[in-house]
Amino acid sequence: MRIMLKGKHIILGITGGIAAYKCATLTRLLVKAGAEVQVIMTPNAKQFIQPLTLSTLSGKPVISEFFTANTGQWNSHVDLGLWADALIIAPATASTIGKMANGVADNMLVTTYLSAKAPVFVAPAMDLDMMKHPSTVRNLDLLRSYGNHIIEPTAGELASHLIGKGRMEEPENIVKALDDFFSSSGDLQGKRVLITAGPTVEKIDPVRFISNFSSGKMGFALAEECARRGALVTLVAGPVSLKTENANITRIDVTTAMEMYDAVMHSLPQSDAIILCAAVADYRVADVAEKKIKREKDAAPVLHLTPNPDIAKAVGQNKRADQVSVGFALETDNEQVNAQGKLERKKLNFIVMNSLRDKNSGFQVDTNKVTIFTDKGEIIEGECKSKRDVARDIVDVLHKYITIQ
Ligand code: C5P
Repeated sequence: MRIMLKGKHIILGITGGIAAYKCATLTRLLVKAGAEVQVIMTPNAKQFIQPLTLSTLSGKPVISEFFTANTGQWNSHVDLGLWADALIIAPATASTIGKMANGVADNMLVTTYLSAKAPVFVAPAMDLDMMKHPSTVRNLDLLRSYGNHIIEPTAGELASHLIGKGRMEEPENIVKALDDFFSSSGDLQGKRVLITAGPTVEKIDPVRFISNFSSGKMGFALAEECARRGALVTLVAGPVSLKTENANITRIDVTTAMEMYDAVMHSLPQSDAIILCAAVADYRVADVAEKKIKREKDAAPVLHLTPNPDIAKAVGQNKRADQVSVGFALETDNEQVNAQGKLERKKLNFIVMNSLRDKNSGFQVDTNKVTIFTDKGEIIEGECKSKRDVARDIVDVLHKYITIQ
């Protein structure tokens, strides 16, 4: 097993929490899996575990200071950042998480973090109240928004003897998270994935419009995940304030449902998979006013609406048997019945349902809790995770469909 970690350059950043003692095992497991491990410790981490233990296990001197004390040699955070295939910060204390979130580069570890181009995994460990503090919650959200992977702490007895969430994930599971990450890299190589994301905006007059609260975050996370795994992605995006980072993503910005429909139909024939994540307005104004509608004294204006095309349904009607389509359902009630109805009506291979009844799910937020219903009758229930991690789970299911086709 663990073949994916063979030869990988891993920086293990250890900070000053009691869970640092587990890093001896973590280092050992990484080395056993064939990875080259460079340990960087914050000054406080050395209070919890001896650098000698880690340099012996990793076979490399531990780095902690900007300069090595006896030789005066400068430790280049830039070189280290570029050397790494992945950075793991474990345990990550509230203090280091705060520094990473805000760019406080006052030690070798945070400085290297800011220089690193590789994926970053953060395994927090702290007392339950620190974990719950709005400052920690916000800082972790910031790290998620930078694309860092948070390896959630587990619940149990903590060093304080209090019971709650804050235990660092076990070394075996941290290695597994890393291994899973590397093993999925490239599994969509050469596949073409078409994704719709964000809201559509339908004009009423030159200054007003009808739209919805979609931020596009889930669709963009899916685009990044597919691109990371080697797919060539066409992302048809409604008006959102998000950036795309991966060069494998071709972005087509649209405003209205009609424009989105045209862009999707144009790219459909050459797509292996289509993910319909956009919150498309079901209706548009039938007669858009050319001039700004003025306030009337006596009568309120009446808007006449006309239906927009159902893009997902059109994809279902026009797709070939070898093309996989995935839809989304955002429900407020009767979730399962509604989602399964859409799965059938739109001839989707699977549908991802989220409920507005779940806290931290749906519009605008960085997290999501989804249930997947497949055309084979499977129901896959997820936990509340970052949209990036939810994207991974969805693309894992998509990958199975693409390879079976
Ligand atoms: O029917 P409903 O809008 O709830 O279905 C949601 C699913 O259909 C989503 O995948 C959404 O992107 C897609 N959809 C679409 N075109 C529409 C309406 C919804 O592609 N006009």
